[in-house]
Amino acid sequence: MTYSSTKMLGFCKRLFQRGVFEVTSVMVGTFLLVTLFYYSDHFSTSDHKFQIDIGNYEHHMLSSVRESPKIDPSPKCERNISVEQLPNFISLPTNIKDLLYYRHCRHFPMLLDIPNKCGGTNASSDVFLLLVIKSSAVNYDRREVLRKTWAKERLSNGVWIRRIFISGTMGTGHETKRLNQLLKLEQSKYNDIIQWDFKDTFYNLTLKQMLFLEWMERNCPRANFLFNGDDDVFANTDNMVLYLQNFERKGGRKHLFAGHLIYNVGPIRSPQSKYYVPEQLYESKLYPAYCGGGGFLLSGYTASVIYANSHSIPILPIDDVYMGMCLAQAGLKPEHHLGVRTAGLHVPGKNVDELDPCFFKEMLLVHRMLSGEMYTLWHRIHDPDLRCPPLNSR
Ligand SMILES: *[C@@H]1O[C@H](CO)[C@@H](O)[C@H](O)[C@H]1NC(C)=O
Ligand SMILES: *[C@@H]1O[C@H](CO)[C@@H](O)[C@H](O)[C@H]1NC(C)=O
Ligand SMILES: *[C@@H]1O[C@H](CO)[C@@H](O)[C@H](O)[C@H]1NC(C)=O
Repeated sequence: MTYSSTKMLGFCKRLFQRGVFEVTSVMVGTFLLVTLFYYSDHFSTSDHKFQIDIGNYEHHMLSSVRESPKIDPSPKCERNISVEQLPNFISLPTNIKDLLYYRHCRHFPMLLDIPNKCGGTNASSDVFLLLVIKSSAVNYDRREVLRKTWAKERLSNGVWIRRIFISGTMGTGHETKRLNQLLKLEQSKYNDIIQWDFKDTFYNLTLKQMLFLEWMERNCPRANFLFNGDDDVFANTDNMVLYLQNFERKGGRKHLFAGHLIYNVGPIRSPQSKYYVPEQLYESKLYPAYCGGGGFLLSGYTASVIYANSHSIPILPIDDVYMGMCLAQAGLKPEHHLGVRTAGLHVPGKNVDELDPCFFKEMLLVHRMLSGEMYTLWHRIHDPDLRCPPLNSR
């Protein structure tokens, strides 16, 4: 062990002993800290690791991904009339009824595809971390910022990071056409969008997730790891690579599914809630343990196990819970990151920058951040002149 990593270890241990970070009540609730920095002995934050040369990679990847989109002619999916026999079907809200009618529909035509993103089956093993970001067509500004910051395709600590946005369709009539055209324009420049012809709604997120896993099986089956998340999170992808490289070095197991663990919660039975799930959709009072959908890491192995299990589990419209259901059926467990918290950050006191780069440098993921903040922060944490004081003085 080198001197600097020993020093680092001591630093991290101190940090950990101090209960990770002190939380004070001053802290705003505007964003949730989902996944904080991980096990203290899992990485060294010596600065050079964060200064990745990203000048040279673009021609590298673009040459392999230019492809014209294929249209996949799937047959129309008919509604399932027998759901009307479910107890109290009549009294359910219209959106839940529709959901039940079309619950079995899992195949939708593709509007935009990038079949060569991973370079084919064999070469897909060169993709170390595949970023799979759920993004609705209107979120153009978020995608632009992500492309320039944490979702930039690049070599990080010697391994490849690739990026894919997954999307459906939005709006009606001309609006749909315009938004589809926007995605098409972005595609011609960046080759990083998969779009299916289904309505991009909250209740269709599970569908989006499963369609992606199906795509992955076909086009990127050997990617080592996935980060699956929303387009409004701040993900420290360099730290993720270090964490995953360490996971790999330890060998031992192929299964990984890690994020902000949620357990001992059950479906909300109140029809007013955004998360309303009546008995007709999910009978049990308890969900299996799952990781919050803002962002989580999983291995390629676990992704394919989830997909295989999904065939026999009816769609539940809450996507992160559904992943938990697939894991449970496979006998696999999602896990929590050490030092993870859902709300509140270190806030040393007044007059302190709540987006202090020294803090964000240490962690994996923060939920909800504005595009401008994301852009600034990414640059600040990669600033070679950034000097972070020892933690006990912060
Ligand atoms: C239609 O709905 C019924 C009742 O929920 C269910 O048992 C059946 O499997 C469904 N059929 C299809 C094709 O999904
Ligand atoms: C992929 O690898 C297998 C052996 O692992 C080989 O038989 C096959 O030809 C390769 N396919 C391509 C397209 O290179
Ligand atoms: C999901 O997408 C399909 C296809 O566009 C649409 O018919 C359905 O209404 C959507 N479901 C929900 C719950 O929004």
